Amino acid sequence: MAYAANDMSPEAVAERTKPVGSVYTAADLEGIVDTATVGSSSEPAAPRSGDAVFTAACAACHTTGAAGAPIKGDAAAWEARIAKGRDTLLDHALNGFNAMPPRGACGNCSDEEIASAVDYMIDAI
Ligand code: HEC
Repeated sequence: MAYAANDMSPEAVAERTKPVGSVYTAADLEGIVDTATVGSSSEPAAPRSGDAVFTAACAACHTTGAAGAPIKGDAAAWEARIAKGRDTLLDHALNGFNAMPPRGACGNCSDEEIASAVDYMIDAI
């Protein structure tokens, strides 16, 4: 076997010509990348949790108070809003309210996901 490169058996040829690397598929990325929130321009198949939607679409304003947004967990900022009723808050989250952009400007959030994010903030009080 001194000249293995000349071995023309099918096994030897297949071994020499197999692909060097393998390709990542979406399944390989599960657990590595949050494929539900990264790089997707369409609605994901399964609704995301309120927590996930909040982090992806609402936290930029609702953890910082940017533009006057009520901060999640700030009871003083939320109690008067919660008193308006969940339906009103949900309506404002979906359709916008002053500096609150419609759907938090989330282009791929479903109504259900927006509702989960609203509940997530209400439940934090
Ligand atoms: C660009 C900043 C910004 C983003 C992003 C944003 N909000 Fe807001 N949000 C605001 C501001 C500012 C207000 C306060 C508006 C006011 O009371 O005048 C507000 C208010 C609200 C209210 C209270 C409405 C009321 O009637 O008192 C809810 C509910 C809400 N946001 C939900 C969300 C949800 C859910 C998301 C994510 C999907 C989100 N927001 C993303 C800025 C933002």
